[in-house]
Amino acid sequence: MFRRVEAPCKRPKTHEDTMTKFILLAVTAASLAAPAFAGDPAAGEDAFKKCKACHSIVAPDGTEIQKGGRTGPNLYGVIGRAVGSEADFASYGESLLALGATGAVWDEASLAAYVADPGAYLKTALADDAAKSKMSFKLAAGGEDVAAYLASVAQ
Ligand code: HEC
Repeated sequence: MFRRVEAPCKRPKTHEDTMTKFILLAVTAASLAAPAFAGDPAAGEDAFKKCKACHSIVAPDGTEIQKGGRTGPNLYGVIGRAVGSEADFASYGESLLALGATGAVWDEASLAAYVADPGAYLKTALADDAAKSKMSFKLAAGGEDVAAYLASVAQ
C-alpha cells in the first residue's frame, strides 16, 4: 500500500507566482468578456443576400462592396456606429432614433439580436411596448454571421 506524504508547501510567494496569478486572472476575465458566439463572416456574406433588397454596403470612398436597395441605411461600418446615425439616410423611424438618443452603439451581439426581430428588439431595448420598427424583415437564423461579415468589411 502506498502512503503519500505530501510535504507542506513552504515555498515563499515569489513575484512570479503573483504574476502568473495575475495573468491567469486577466486571461479568464478576457474570455468571459468575449462575445458568447463567434459569427462566420463567409456565411454572413452569403446571408447578406437577404438584406440587399433594402441595404447596400458602400465605403466612404464610394466603393460599392454590396450593391443594394435604399429602403434601409448603408450598412458600411455599422458595427461600432451609433444606432440610427447614418447621415445619408433620412427615413429612420422614431423608435430607432429614440434608441440612438440613449447613446446605444451597434456591436455584433446587438445587431444579431436586432435582425432576428427588429420590432421586438426595439420594444425590449426601449422598455416600450409601443416601439415600432420600420425594418419589416426578420432573419430567422444566422444573425451573428451577418454581424461578423459586417464587422469584417469595414476594417
Ligand atoms: C425590407 C427591407 C429591409 C430588409 C430586407 C432588411 N432591412 Fe435592415 N433596415 C430596413 C429599414 C427600413 C431600416 C430602418 C429601420 C427603422 O428606422 O426603424 C433598417 C435598419 C437596419 C439597421 C439599423 C441601422 C442603423 O443605422 O442604425 C440594421 C443594423 C439593419 N437594418 C440590418 C439589416 C440586415 C443585416 C439585414 C439582412 C439580414 C436587413 N437589415 C434586412 C430595411 C430592411
